[in-house]
Amino acid sequence: MLDKLREGLLFQLAKTLYKRNLGQSEEMTAALEDREAYESYRAECVEKIREAAHRLAVPVSQRDVLDLGCFDGALTSSLKTFDPASLTGIDIDADAIETANIKFAGPDVEFRVSGTDRLPLADESIDTIISYDVFEHVETPAQILSECYRVLRPGGSMLIGTWGWYHPFAPHLWSVMPVPWAHVLFSERIMLRVCRRIYQTDWYQPNMHDFDKNGERIPDKFNYESIPTDYLNKFLIRDFERIFQQSEFDFQIHPERFSSRAAAWTKPLLRVPVLKEFFTSYIWCVLSKPGNVRQTPSPRISTAPERPVPQPSSCP
Ligand SMILES: C[S@@+](CC[C@H](N)C(=O)[O-])C[C@H]1O[C@@H](n2cnc3c(N)ncnc32)[C@H](O)[C@@H]1O
Repeated sequence: MLDKLREGLLFQLAKTLYKRNLGQSEEMTAALEDREAYESYRAECVEKIREAAHRLAVPVSQRDVLDLGCFDGALTSSLKTFDPASLTGIDIDADAIETANIKFAGPDVEFRVSGTDRLPLADESIDTIISYDVFEHVETPAQILSECYRVLRPGGSMLIGTWGWYHPFAPHLWSVMPVPWAHVLFSERIMLRVCRRIYQTDWYQPNMHDFDKNGERIPDKFNYESIPTDYLNKFLIRDFERIFQQSEFDFQIHPERFSSRAAAWTKPLLRVPVLKEFFTSYIWCVLSKPGNVRQTPSPRISTAPERPVPQPSSCP
């Protein structure tokens, strides 16, 4: 009975906020119209990475660069504008890597399928790792981090851009249910029931993620009781901090506030341990492998053993 009331309340809230398009920007709504629009939207995210790499002093130019979690390679391809010595994109999604190889591979960019617990790269073969919008999806972040340490050369760095689980829209359901912190205020079961209902209404506008490869509308989305942890690891900022501490990396975490003027007052909250979890819009992390940075890039040969084909995961 109480659950029914909660579900009704969340449904009404979601309906109201959906009509105001609260969960996503206009550019993102446009990006989700079709695959091509989405690809160019992702490619443009390179400017955010450029700004963060510059501000946080992560070197990219003339380095051997790895894009960890490159999906279909659209963003990786844009990283060419950073003038890297070489560029490698890896992802556990074999279909996405196939697309990346068809569309973006060339003499200066290569793509490889990665394992869920092993990177397909030789020890100390990379100078800089960039991983944008990926670590919240990684099922075994501590294991992948130690793999990153292995493949980085001494003095190498890693730039991670990710989200914490108490971000208002962390469950990646904004296009269906744009209710901030719904996953904190309601059980995941109720949240997903509401998503299922909204998905069937006549006011819900389907996006590219709602259609299968043949262009058919997927009939039974959100058909689970809680957010699958092989899709989102539900890490808080403090969980990232913990695994960074347990690694051999030196690290810094830079939480960012929401950019709207109305959210300017939240800036001091980003220094308060629990509150920062709720008011951080994005987390940039810089991890450095101790040692001296090498001066001249050297050719790279993969010696990592092949691993079984990994489970694919999908972008939001
Ligand atoms: C939201 S997409 C981001 C794609 C790309 N970085 C971009 O910004 O366009 C997240 C990607 O991370 C990939 N991923 C998840 N876990 C991974 C892992 N352990 N190793 C490599 N890629 C992973 C997923 O397959 C997915 O393609």
